[in-house]
Amino acid sequence: MKGVILAGGTGSRLHPLTRITNKHLLPIYDRPMVNYCIEALVNAEITEIMLVTGGTHAGEFLRLLGNGHEFGIDRLSYGYQERPGGIAEALGLAARFVDGDPVLVMLADNVVERSIRPMVDAFRAEPAGARILLTRVEEDEHLRHLGVPVFDEGRITAIEEKPEAPPSKFGVTGIYCYDSDVFDVIPTLAPSGRGELEITDVNNHYIGEGAMAYDILEGFWGDAGESIDAYYAVNDFVRAHGANKG
Ligand code: G1P
Repeated sequence: MKGVILAGGTGSRLHPLTRITNKHLLPIYDRPMVNYCIEALVNAEITEIMLVTGGTHAGEFLRLLGNGHEFGIDRLSYGYQERPGGIAEALGLAARFVDGDPVLVMLADNVVERSIRPMVDAFRAEPAGARILLTRVEEDEHLRHLGVPVFDEGRITAIEEKPEAPPSKFGVTGIYCYDSDVFDVIPTLAPSGRGELEITDVNNHYIGEGAMAYDILEGFWGDAGESIDAYYAVNDFVRAHGANKG
């Protein structure tokens, strides 16, 4: 299984901090944000990784990560997104790197307390369709910033992106497994209202095919890029409790 880390975007929700660097290079406790994502993948034995970034600070990733060996990566490739066209568009840049294999995709601003290995192993055992990781979220205000699944008898029937009226108490994390058909789905997508190719549209495609599975994450999950308060909440959590634990 290959890994794709998505570390692009303008980081507008963290301006002005993101005028001077890429969001995913900002510190979370004692390391740059992207390092937690790399640790999550390497702990799940995903060691062939492509990092896709963009904007004016792309070179800093090379300075931080080099060839990746120091972090347990066997093969680290880089991709460059020329304009912020969305998560699904960024993933599309990894088609040749993934080259027909199953792929784990992780947004580099997502930080988890516990290992993502159970989900990765479940997809390794049955590497067809898609598999997403959900997290329980109590506050509707928070759910309005996320993708939220609609359930019918335990199955996901749709995902609503940033819904005004959240249809469940679960948020879709930025951690996804796909078979290589994902690269045929992406070119069929139309830009959303925010002018981006949405990963939620990719997921809804798999749901429509009856090919979507999910797991529910245990422990803390944070999207450190969601707002300045979310960024500090993730910092506080990691400082007190750590991340990517067994
Ligand atoms: C993206 C996805 C959303 C998901 C979130 C998790 O949102 O579109 O479905 O819940 O990541 O971090 P964005 O951060 O691009 O607004």
